[in-house]
Amino acid sequence: MKKRVLYTSGVVIFGICFLFMLYYGKETFYVENIETSAETHDFHFALIIEEAGNPYWQMIERSAEETASKHNIYLETIGPRKSDTDEVLKMIDRMIAAKVDGIITQGLPGPRFLELMNKASENGVPVLTVDSDVSESERKAYIGTDNYEAGRLAGEELIQSTEGKQFVGIITGNLESLNQQERIKGFEDALKKTDRIGIVDIQESNITEAGAAQAAYSMMKQHSEINALFGTSALDGIGMAEGVEEITVWERPYMITFDILPETLELLEEGSIDATVVQYPEEMGEKAIHIMLELQEKDYVEPLQYTKTNVIHRADWETLEPDEEDAS
Ligand code: BGC
Repeated sequence: MKKRVLYTSGVVIFGICFLFMLYYGKETFYVENIETSAETHDFHFALIIEEAGNPYWQMIERSAEETASKHNIYLETIGPRKSDTDEVLKMIDRMIAAKVDGIITQGLPGPRFLELMNKASENGVPVLTVDSDVSESERKAYIGTDNYEAGRLAGEELIQSTEGKQFVGIITGNLESLNQQERIKGFEDALKKTDRIGIVDIQESNITEAGAAQAAYSMMKQHSEINALFGTSALDGIGMAEGVEEITVWERPYMITFDILPETLELLEEGSIDATVVQYPEEMGEKAIHIMLELQEKDYVEPLQYTKTNVIHRADWETLEPDEEDAS
């Protein structure tokens, strides 16, 4: 009898332990099986973004994912937590090694990017650049804003909307980024036709709101003559408005920035920012997936596919009918 009780309890304890092992083992070691996900789909594309959690890149990500799911594509989206070129280069290399069916990424400065584009091409992995381009690389095509033209539009807007001498401070995401350089070049070229406007200083925001606020603040402290600010990346305008608020000035500077994040639009509406250059990140994400699909069947696509660019300013808001405003 004693033996039987012992034996039964042994079996019960073993059974319980076994169940626990199965449960916790699964919890601890379960990782999403990429192979399985990729296998149930027709294609496996990689989208490598500049910075995870950045609201501008989230727009590209969202539209690319929506489009991919409609076409039975497994889209793997990756990116560093903070903008980091070396990290992105490593991710591109890893995705080439994984032999994905296509890579969508930002065009990056320096020889390593060119090498990786060669490597991708030799391995039969098509690459598309979005948001920023390196036209001399072996990427198949660029889908995004004509960044030089976008900068030029900002310069034209500044000329048209101001009178008298303008001393401009530029806040840029990152001086190394190709799209930021092109925007600044376009802006400078537009200003060449007038001697009324000059650029006083350029500082980086590291594509963060806090960085832009700090840059605007210190720039205006250093150069009290600044009466216009130009922000060249998505969070710069929001940060600029914060930085300016911290400083007591007779008249706030004229402010033009980039992108239409919800907060930027609010600032525009309440009159804290004067104008913004509109990019269409959703269109970039959607189009990139479509073009990558085409590249699964052919080798050549139109290499420069610019998305729209335009400027909106406060006056546009004032002329909007109330209904239109609600709808937007
Ligand atoms: C640029 C992106 C940048 C983003 C930063 C956008 O205007 O096109 O390259 O990553 O701003 O928030």
